[in-house]
Amino acid sequence: MSSPGPRRLPTLQGRLVTTLFFEPSTRTRSSFEIAARRLSADVASFAPASSALAKGESLLDTVRTYVAMGAELLVIRHRSSGVPAALAQDLHATGHDIAVLNAGDGLHSHPSQALLDLFTLARHFSPQQPTLQALAGRTIAIVGDILHSRVARSNLWSLSGVGARIHLCGPSALLPKCFADFLAAMPPGCGPDPVPQRGKIHIFRDLDEALTDVDAVMTLRLQQERAQKHQVTSLEDYHRNYGITHGRLKRCRPGTPVLHPGPVNRDVELSSELVNDPQRCLMHQQVGHGVPVRMALLYLLATTLNAREDT
Ligand code: NCD
Repeated sequence: MSSPGPRRLPTLQGRLVTTLFFEPSTRTRSSFEIAARRLSADVASFAPASSALAKGESLLDTVRTYVAMGAELLVIRHRSSGVPAALAQDLHATGHDIAVLNAGDGLHSHPSQALLDLFTLARHFSPQQPTLQALAGRTIAIVGDILHSRVARSNLWSLSGVGARIHLCGPSALLPKCFADFLAAMPPGCGPDPVPQRGKIHIFRDLDEALTDVDAVMTLRLQQERAQKHQVTSLEDYHRNYGITHGRLKRCRPGTPVLHPGPVNRDVELSSELVNDPQRCLMHQQVGHGVPVRMALLYLLATTLNAREDT
């Protein structure tokens, strides 16, 4: 058997990574912290409830406190869109050479989740050698609460960037028609779009139509904490109309995988049987891929920091 290789790489030795999560998280936060430790970083984990935020300290002063203690890489999740980018701008404007990673901001984006979803799909379609080409020309259905989902938005950019076709499916309260034009706007980060030709998004209200002949299905959590009252009539209705079950998957190509970013509402967006079926439901693979994908992101940022120090 070949050697599994070292469990830890020295890339971030002597550097402090701080995770600042102003919203709850299990997978994203833990996998960033595990990834940082696998690259030999010191990790400081900020817990809002027991912090000086409760004494009225501002977000910016909280972040500057960690920078004063030597944090060079900040991983930030916030309930408001744009906060990680605004903090990065402020830190750079005040002369701090700090790398800021967005771990999910409001409804806007969740880039590391989209990357691990791409990796999971690439590995599913091309297990021996996962490549992004394996996704070109595939049709992916994204089903459920699109309106409140930063995961869906990031996946729209990434999947269209690798040449996949996208079916969006949900009730009009959770999937307004304007999503059909989503890709016409500037990509996150606001630079010119680096992808010359993005495909079209097709919107479906009927789940059976949306699933016909697709290659993969991404389901999303019904985000009851963000939703307004009456956006869904009842959880039973929602499951009947938009819940993914083994029966519903008969419309798709044989063996079509189901993804979900977690946490899952069992028997709402996904049947419990499907959640428990690792042949069809790749949720746990996605979580597992979160660690190496986030290691890769931290590794890239560390090489930039190292290169700056060498010049
Ligand atoms: C997602 C998130 O926080 O945006 N979860 C995650 O990061 N794995 C999706 C969700 O909360 O439903």
